[in-house]
Amino acid sequence: MVTGNAMLCGVIGNPVGHSLSPLMHNEIAKALGLDYIYVPCPVEHGTLGEAIRGAYALGFAGLNVTVPYKQEVIPFLTETDVSVRCIGACNTLVRLPDNGAANKGYKGYNTDAEGLFRAMRGQGMEIRGRACLLIGAGGAARAAAYLLVREGAASVTVLNRTPDKAEALAADMRRMAADGGEIAVAALPLAQWRELPGNSYLAIQTTSVGMHPHTDAAPVEDMDFYRKIAQAVDIIYTPSETRFMKHVKAAGGQAAGGLDMLICQGVAALELWNPGLHVPDEVISRVREIMEERLNG
Ligand code: ATR
Repeated sequence: MVTGNAMLCGVIGNPVGHSLSPLMHNEIAKALGLDYIYVPCPVEHGTLGEAIRGAYALGFAGLNVTVPYKQEVIPFLTETDVSVRCIGACNTLVRLPDNGAANKGYKGYNTDAEGLFRAMRGQGMEIRGRACLLIGAGGAARAAAYLLVREGAASVTVLNRTPDKAEALAADMRRMAADGGEIAVAALPLAQWRELPGNSYLAIQTTSVGMHPHTDAAPVEDMDFYRKIAQAVDIIYTPSETRFMKHVKAAGGQAAGGLDMLICQGVAALELWNPGLHVPDEVISRVREIMEERLNG
């Protein structure tokens, strides 16, 4: 149902034509009978500030932000959530009430970490107290890094091809944890994975290795590496089963792909835009089937 009073949300990025978010949000809204519409909004380079002000003027209740604007959008926010400050990127804007000129605009959140959290919880992957591996140290790794700190992992080893980047992310994680609980963070060049002392890690794979169309690649090929992993999530969702996931399973571990994270970060945004809303699991399952059809069809 879309009436003249519909809540208006959308995604800004460049390009946005490939985004699955309009399909996902509009299917959830249909299933829940929400008076809501979610539209794709391509934003030309150099016009991001105008786009945000324009969206506010047009009454957009919320926006998602995708490539290449997740960092660039931050100076245009009126307020930022701790998730944005720790991750250094923003994927969700929530309209602030218009209480006069001072605080007009949007508050920025990052729901990637919350999406990953919900997806892992749905797979029975508990973070608290676990020895974890974070594979990769790029932009996508930062949301996972924040989550591992937030959820109280016992230890995290950041494994990355370029050692300096692993060190830098590990240092950032120690800063994120500074006023929180105990967490031991180490950095290790990916090629030195044999130095890992444990044998039942919870691993989060955040590199682009194995993503369509290069599906015959994995960050590590040696099966001894995978025998150290009890549970793993690969945040890649194309293909639905990556070579990394196949290796984890072949070594006797449990592996999940990135589609649930994609869906759950969208659901977390929808719930921020609609306080009090809870999207039931049956709706999420149905939307997951629709998205799988779109990805595989
Ligand atoms: P994103 O925002 O998707 O994380 P990114 O910031 O470019 O993209 O980071 C890509 C990640 O994938 C990095 O950790 C990168 O490792 P480097 O820091 O060494 O570049 C990792 N990566 C990309 N190709 C890789 C490969 N062939 N082998 C190992 N790691 C790779």
